[in-house]
Amino acid sequence: MTQTYSEPRASYAPSDDFAAQANGTVELYRQAEDDRLEFWSQQADRLAWATPFTEVLDWSNAPFAKWFVGGRLNVAYNCVDRHVEAGNGDRVAIHWVGEPVDDARSITYAELQDEVCRAANALTDLGVVAGDRVAIYMPMVPEAIVAMLACARLGAMHSVVFAGFSASALRARIEDAQTKVVVTTDGQYRRGQAVPLKPAVDDAVAGLGETNPVEHVLVVRRTGIDTPWTEGRDLWWDEVVDSASTEHTPDAFDAEQPLFLLYTSGTTGKPKGIVHTSGGYLTQASYTHHYVFDLKPERDVYWCTADIGWVTGHSYIVYGPLSNGATQVVYEGTPASPDEHRHFQIIEKYGVTIYYTAPTLVRTFMKWGREIAFAHDLSSLRLLGSVGEPINPEAWRWYRLVFGGDATPIVDTWWQTETGAAMIAPLPGVTACKPGSAMGALPGISAKIVDDDGNQLEPGTEHGEQPSGYLVLDKPWPAMLRGIWGDPERFKETYWSRFAEQGWYFAGDGARYGHDGEIWVLGRIDDVMNVSGHRISTAEVESALVGHAGVAEAAVVGASDESTGQAICAFVILKAHHTDLSHEQMVEELRAEVAKEISPIAKPREIHVVPELPKTRSGKIMRRLLRDVAEGRELGDTSTLMDPGVFEAIRAAR
Ligand code: WTA
Repeated sequence: MTQTYSEPRASYAPSDDFAAQANGTVELYRQAEDDRLEFWSQQADRLAWATPFTEVLDWSNAPFAKWFVGGRLNVAYNCVDRHVEAGNGDRVAIHWVGEPVDDARSITYAELQDEVCRAANALTDLGVVAGDRVAIYMPMVPEAIVAMLACARLGAMHSVVFAGFSASALRARIEDAQTKVVVTTDGQYRRGQAVPLKPAVDDAVAGLGETNPVEHVLVVRRTGIDTPWTEGRDLWWDEVVDSASTEHTPDAFDAEQPLFLLYTSGTTGKPKGIVHTSGGYLTQASYTHHYVFDLKPERDVYWCTADIGWVTGHSYIVYGPLSNGATQVVYEGTPASPDEHRHFQIIEKYGVTIYYTAPTLVRTFMKWGREIAFAHDLSSLRLLGSVGEPINPEAWRWYRLVFGGDATPIVDTWWQTETGAAMIAPLPGVTACKPGSAMGALPGISAKIVDDDGNQLEPGTEHGEQPSGYLVLDKPWPAMLRGIWGDPERFKETYWSRFAEQGWYFAGDGARYGHDGEIWVLGRIDDVMNVSGHRISTAEVESALVGHAGVAEAAVVGASDESTGQAICAFVILKAHHTDLSHEQMVEELRAEVAKEISPIAKPREIHVVPELPKTRSGKIMRRLLRDVAEGRELGDTSTLMDPGVFEAIRAAR
């Protein structure tokens, strides 16, 4: 198949055919504007409630929201059982594709129900009750999703920790949440190799000493590799879950029953446990998944390429799609395993119709070349999605041409771990999309771009650079975070203090309006970096670096990077006479230290050993200037610098 670019256009309206069959129409915006709370009440009716709610929103104790007050439901029942009861038990819920070629398994809703019930019974036997926390540290295997749903069924909170995180990152999360059980696997496949995972759990727990809250470690046999074992504490999943009963009656829980904790990076070194609850979260996950992805559960095959370790995996692999009775692909491995054709082969084999990924992966595919995609029949695709960082217009156009046959809508979805579900995104059957813009707030959601004083910015003019401002959410939304685990003050301070007077949530992102009033998100304006769509704070990496005995001081900045969006650049001052290592050896040691303390994904792209760091007179590191250096720009305003000569020294050191 050969294809050429059609003329790049400024905007792409949906085709008449797509618009005619779309779930979401212009009417949806009108309904939401007419009566926002009534609109959300109708969306909540998508779910099965054991007890109906009596009030849509209680905002009297802002910023602590209560949605769907008085309502009771079971989240797992909504994601699994009710589809079976509706006669769709034979529909495939998950086409699971393992990393090793030919390792695949399709699971129907009826089978998923049995499996979730077994796991819920097994967890109950291990003493897990409503309100308890369970850590899930697993690769993308079906049991990870089953474990999440089993927790939800019991009213216990899961805390999924990305399996690429180190033992010490896991330990900090177990400790903060006081998790009673950890679910993991013996190992995981990484680029064709079986590598151990369970030892990291042992390490994490061993480091907890006396205060260890972990009573059991439940281990899924994934790779069959040798696994260290602690008798009494450790249990094989196949020994306790497979033999458990498939009968389990779900209890109904309050709409505000905590559903999960998910740790994310903030502007300090300590990750925040973001708390999400049940009724509001599931309502918005389900609503957005239905309308933004235009899901037709009877015929679509949906694939979100995220990992369940991130919020995208929670909302758009587990809760959104399953609450809507979708059939989806879940893939365990990396895109180049065993070669660059893997994603395209999967799309072709399963007839994937909706594909949701991150811009960094689109850019990787671009690098590999369109011939790889064009070797496959991708004509089943009818909708594409993007999330995690701003998508550059060139990547957007390439994605539409090469994946979408120059015809499919692309939904660029802006949201955060904290928002729980998509907030700013097009409706694919309505919005004429401009490549690179997430367009406007979804029906029922309200977002604004404001200046320092909270004045809304004007839409951009046709010519010239538009001013940028702060992206705020000026009205509460159902899937909003309910707090930071154990730290209500930090919750208020982090999100609600910048525009406290107005009572707005500040997202940490900068944005500007385009010519037609559409929103262009520019990225973080705080000390949070976005590397391949992964959130990492400068402070976390700095604290890992200064944790090394040879480092006196460290400053970390995110510099723009063509393939990963941002890349981590570190500047370190070494302690005099600490070691005999050369600078090169030291840099290697430091990169390893960061991987060990946080994760290989947090390894700096570059580490510069410097004699000094640029500081203000009050001693604050001027990251803005370091970013200029890292990006090879002329230095910005240096007038507040304590010692203007410092850059000579830094440049000389590079
Ligand atoms: C960025 C991921 C531009 C943004 C769901 C946000 C985006 C942070 C987009 C949240 C997008 C996410 N366009 N920027 N479509 N989606 N971001 O918590 O900076 O991992 O604040 O949630 O990613 O990252 P998080």
